[in-house]
This record gives sequence, structure tokens and C-alpha cells, in this order.
Amino acid sequence: MDKIFVLGAGAMAESFIKGVTQGDVADAKSIYVINRHRPDRLAELSETYGVTPAASMEAAKEAGVIILAVKPYDMRLALVELSPYLHGQLVISFAAGIPIAFMENVTQGRAQIIRTMPNVPVAVLEGAIAMATGASVNRESVDVAKRLLGKIGIVVELEEHLMDAATAFSGSGPGFVSYFLEAMEDAAVQLGFSAELARQLLIQTVVGTAKVLEEWRLSPAELRRLVTSPNGTTHAGLTVLGNLGMREAIAQALVQAEGRSREMGEQYTAVE
Ligand SMILES: NC(=O)c1ccc[n+]([C@@H]2O[C@H](COP(=O)([O-])OP(=O)(O)OC[C@H]3O[C@@H](n4cnc5c(N)ncnc54)[C@H](OP(=O)(O)O)[C@@H]3O)[C@@H](O)[C@H]2O)c1
Repeated sequence: MDKIFVLGAGAMAESFIKGVTQGDVADAKSIYVINRHRPDRLAELSETYGVTPAASMEAAKEAGVIILAVKPYDMRLALVELSPYLHGQLVISFAAGIPIAFMENVTQGRAQIIRTMPNVPVAVLEGAIAMATGASVNRESVDVAKRLLGKIGIVVELEEHLMDAATAFSGSGPGFVSYFLEAMEDAAVQLGFSAELARQLLIQTVVGTAKVLEEWRLSPAELRRLVTSPNGTTHAGLTVLGNLGMREAIAQALVQAEGRSREMGEQYTAVE
């Protein structure tokens, strides 16, 4: 694997570094990391994972793969600073909402750009990552990206116009699932449980349900039907959720989240 240049040294950069170094796809020393203000953070990453702090953006020149792990509102400046050192490398962006066309524009077409939308479970290498590729990205680069990102989660390749929708349900998904669990936990406390005990059962319920869906290759609707006996407890509970319009509420939540993702992308890429 070529040298990798990681622009940004925050949570997302660390998840990526952790995955690729543990996953043996890249030699830790060949991973160069840069941030703006915090040399202590670079030292920490170097000590923990064996990566190399980069002295300047110029290190990107030698890299075959560049990872953009900066906040969406910092992307324009980061790309401007990076641009002089680009000569066709693969650039993988983690920045939510920033379109490929914007990145290609700022870098004047000097890179092969892949846009991704990871989610928080990448921190434990269990992420769900949506990925869209720019027109100039060759097949080999797509394979490299999949190999690297595959170390921090599952990778799904999709058309870029679906990225805002992916942001809504897999990007924001951990927040929605947690909200549901929070409500379940509160309700369990009302039924006499301690929050701690309820949480233990709830977390395992989600993990176990996800595994059953995956291993038995069932759709959520099929599993729901399987566990819902007529007039049983699940049926009683689901009837209430149906009557209160839970499906409609979820659909509306995703539409709102998708719209907000698009809006934020437009805000960060607007011409000043
Ligand atoms: N964290 C997640 O689970 C997650 C999930 C999905 C998507 N993402 C995306 O991943 C990206 C990074 O998120 P994060 O949570 O890792 O952010 P973060 O913790 O705030 O880290 C951002 C990093 O970018 C550095 N930076 C910003 N501008 C720079 C520049 N011009 N040159 C060099 N370094 C620069 C910052 O350096 P200083 O600290 O020195 O300023 C910092 O190390 C975001 O775009 C976010 O949308 C993250």
C-alpha cells in the first residue's frame, strides 16, 4: 500500500487509523497525519498507533491516498491548502454533505475524489459507510478505498444523489436508534426496572436482533411477523405504536434529516 496522508487528527481520523493499522492493510509508519493546532494530539496518535506526524501539507505529495477528516466547515480551506500537492492521488473525504463537484472544483481536478458518509460505530470498527465516487476515479482506486474503509465498517457504493438520504438514516441512525432505546429504558423504569438493568437487556436485544436479521437473512418485516403472535405481547405493543403513527413519524424524521443534510452541504460550499 502507498503512503497515506491523513488530513485531520480528530475522532474520525483516529477511527480510520485504528482500523487500517489493526487490519494490517497499511504500515503504520507510512501513515502521515496532520492537524492545525495540537502537536500533542499528533504525538498521542503516533505513540498509540505508530503513525508519523507530518511536518506540513507537502507530505501529501508523496502519498498515494489522502484522507480528508476535517469538519465540513473547514473543508474549503483544507482543500485550498492541500491543492498544490495533488497530482492525481486518491482522495477520500469523510466530510458530511460536501459534494464531489465542490471538492473537484477547489482542487481544480487534480485528484480522484471519493465522498463517504461513515457513522459513529466506525470508532469500534463496526461502521456503515456510504461511498460515492467521482467520474475521474479509476477502478483500482475504488478497490483501494473499499479495502481501507472495509477495516472500519461495511462499505456500500451508491450514486452521489443518495448521499443525503444515507446521511439521514445510517449517518444519523445511531442517534435515532439511541432515541428509541432511551424511550424503552424510560418505559422500563416506569415498569419498575433500574435504568442500568434495563440498559443491559436493551443493548443485547438490539445486538441480538441485528445478528438474527443478518444471519437468518430476514427483512425487518419478516422478523417482526415471526415474533408477533396474534394477540400476544408484541402484537399489543405494536398496535399502540401503529395507532400513534410511529411509522409516519420515522418517515418524517428521515425526510427532515435528509433535507438538513442537503442544506448544510449548500451552506458550507456556498460561494462567498
Ligand atoms: N466522528 C465521527 O464518527 C464521524 C462520523 C461521520 C462523519 N464524520 C465526518 O468526519 C469529519 C471529521 O470529524 P471529526 O469528528 O473527526 O472532527 P474533529 O474531531 O473536530 O477533527 C477535525 C480535525 O481536523 C483538523 N483540521 C481542520 N482543518 C484543518 C486544516 N486546514 N489543516 C489541518 N488540519 C485541519 C483539526 O485540527 P485542530 O484540532 O488542530 O484544529 C482536527 O484534528 C467531519 O467532516 C465529519 O462530518 C465523522
